[in-house]
Amino acid sequence: MAVGAHDLVDYRQALRRHAIATLPQSFEDSFGSARLDLWPALESPLMPQGTKRVCYPGRSERKGGLVKYVSGLRCRECGRDYPVAPEHVCEHCFGPLEVAYDYEAMRAGITREEIERGPRTMWRYASLLPAPEDRVVDLAVGFTPLRLAPRLAAELGLSKLWLKLDGANPTHSFKDRVVSVAAAAARSFGYDVLACASTGNLANAMAAHAAASGMRSVAFIPSDLESGKVAATSIYGGRVVALDGGYDDVNRLCAELSGSKQWAFVNVNVRPYYAEGSKSLAFEVAEQLGWRYPDAVVVPMASGSLFTKMAKGLRELHRVGLVEAEPRTIIHGAQAEGCSPIAAAFLAGFEEVRAVKPNTIAKSLAIGNPADGYYALKEARATGGKIAAVSEASVADGVRLLARTEGVFTETAGGVTIATLEHLVRAGSISPNDETVALITGIGLKTIEAFGDAGPTDSGPPSLDAVERIFEEAPL
Ligand SMILES: Cc1ncc(COP(=O)(O)O)c(C=O)c1O
Ligand SMILES: [Zn+2]
Repeated sequence: MAVGAHDLVDYRQALRRHAIATLPQSFEDSFGSARLDLWPALESPLMPQGTKRVCYPGRSERKGGLVKYVSGLRCRECGRDYPVAPEHVCEHCFGPLEVAYDYEAMRAGITREEIERGPRTMWRYASLLPAPEDRVVDLAVGFTPLRLAPRLAAELGLSKLWLKLDGANPTHSFKDRVVSVAAAAARSFGYDVLACASTGNLANAMAAHAAASGMRSVAFIPSDLESGKVAATSIYGGRVVALDGGYDDVNRLCAELSGSKQWAFVNVNVRPYYAEGSKSLAFEVAEQLGWRYPDAVVVPMASGSLFTKMAKGLRELHRVGLVEAEPRTIIHGAQAEGCSPIAAAFLAGFEEVRAVKPNTIAKSLAIGNPADGYYALKEARATGGKIAAVSEASVADGVRLLARTEGVFTETAGGVTIATLEHLVRAGSISPNDETVALITGIGLKTIEAFGDAGPTDSGPPSLDAVERIFEEAPL
């Protein structure tokens, strides 16, 4: 690879921005001393024997296939095109690769009627996702309820608030969406092992999809995860490796491992496909509102991927002609103060995210070095969204507020979303008349530790007298 001094500067910037979270330590060290000859070591992650770089045939060759509109991978930085393969980093500038589509063909070929005739799962949007039809691991993910929340709306002073209840997914979080797409892509590439670096929910989803498709699985997690999340991974029979360190350490290790193992790390080497799964949340919200856009959405952020894909999904609906109006939805991001690198950069006006060491009750959002933070910042600034951080104490309050007003028990990440929604309404960033959607991305039973005081409110012997006394002392 011929490299000039100017390119080197660009490489460095791109590396810092996008790849540092996932490149192996050894590579980063080498890159620091400009030894670009080491790059080829990263160029071809080990693929299963017989994997071809162009695995997704074009539309004419694969009629009816779910990948008929995928044209390849494209670098988000330099725009270079790549064939479809289990790769995620541009070999020219280290920018992240993203799935590219033939939008003209989509516009001509996809209709609302076809989607509405589809299954009541995320696979009704199969033609908008990069997953080959014959490889889908169908756990009936998605098409989760979009429910009005009048009591919470009244308490916050909003006229119309919707909850997108993604805890209704098979493993009770939105991560089922990304894993469904990643698993299909992994199978099409010939992998028989799924792996991931996870803050908990992803491991649950990955292990379940592996079990249901007869694949083996390996989940790498930080050792301090909530016990519910660990049990909800190991129950599926795969390997669960707890590492002493935070998610960022686990993620870096997985990036290194992906260079030596023939495993599909759903959020590393097949990340371009994985990330696209989040768009299904945007598609569902628009369809469930009658093929129109809300005014505002509040999205919890860890890597920032869900945030960027929410925006991309809404834009694509217009681009392929499924929603006539241009999207004008303002997308707001939610973080907890104990891990708020994207919110901090947003408030400081920085273009780049500075990594932090997480210390938050919202463990599923504890990513200190967010891979998509840079793009999330750009997206928020372009569309007028805010990215806010709420206090650690307000996270559990947010969970309780949602439970008390709407009968929904969300996990700490959902508490971050509700607390941020409240903050944004109070600050005037969301107006009373903005039709707003809060993404409730997981369930509370997985983070029960955060509500240790949520035991019985009263207790006593099993006699009428005792119960009468209880309600005399503290009437209902
Ligand atoms: C429940 C929940 N919500 C939101 C997120 C944030 O996802 P992302 O990493 O795409 O920002 C996560 C990530 O693990 C999560 O577990
Ligand atoms: Zn590039």
